[in-house]
Amino acid sequence: MNKALRKAVIAGNWKMNKTPAEAKELIEGIKPLVGGAGCGVVVCVPYVDLAAAMEATRGTNIGVGAENCHWEKSGAFTGEISADMLAAMGVQYVIIGHSERRTYFGETDVTVNKRVRAALDSGLTVILCVGEYLEQREQGVTSELVAMQTKIALGGVSKEELGKIIIAYEPVWAIGTGKTATAAQADEVCATIRATVKELYGEDSANALTVQYGGSMNAKNAAELLDQPNVDGGLIGGASLKPADFAEIVKAASR
Ligand code: PGA
Repeated sequence: MNKALRKAVIAGNWKMNKTPAEAKELIEGIKPLVGGAGCGVVVCVPYVDLAAAMEATRGTNIGVGAENCHWEKSGAFTGEISADMLAAMGVQYVIIGHSERRTYFGETDVTVNKRVRAALDSGLTVILCVGEYLEQREQGVTSELVAMQTKIALGGVSKEELGKIIIAYEPVWAIGTGKTATAAQADEVCATIRATVKELYGEDSANALTVQYGGSMNAKNAAELLDQPNVDGGLIGGASLKPADFAEIVKAASR
């Protein structure tokens, strides 16, 4: 598996943090530090910050993403945002299936699949999140579970469309806890995801797929994680709110 065949992408997931004014300030802080990045750089921000983020990143190498989208194009879905609305703003990326959506907002593999479909139909690049709870790891079902999440989420996605999918392996027990997966654990599950994609789409597609690790990745541990043969980038929560730390991770992913 040759890492040179695929693109490394570091994406920040700001979660429910930052007002539009603060978003602008944070991006202004990040911009000069990642200008020469040798990897893709993305910031996924709250809906209300998207306009400020689009404006602040114009003409830079930083892509902008949302943190979710609904599967219908429009309609009676109070509080939701459609993929078309995001695309119309010029947003390029969207996180789908984050474990916080699954845990706190009733997201299932089936709704994740519907959101993936809608995002692709609108031309967005999807950062699809999969990962196990601690009990599932302890029960020894991580591989099966992550393979199942991947397969269901990709249902109906064509080989061509797969080029617009990044998969982020995020063990739920590592998110926001400071408990990072070991480099070997991260690589093992990222390899499982790649093998699942190979089974579905063939070797070329699997080789070209960007698989990120997420879960307490920070300036200190990023290099070791990103050095693994199957880890092509990171989905960064807490550390993406600190320009110097985020830039350090981008540096570690740059090839
Ligand atoms: P964390 O979050 O880096 O704060 O653990 C990662 C994520 O939830 O995407």
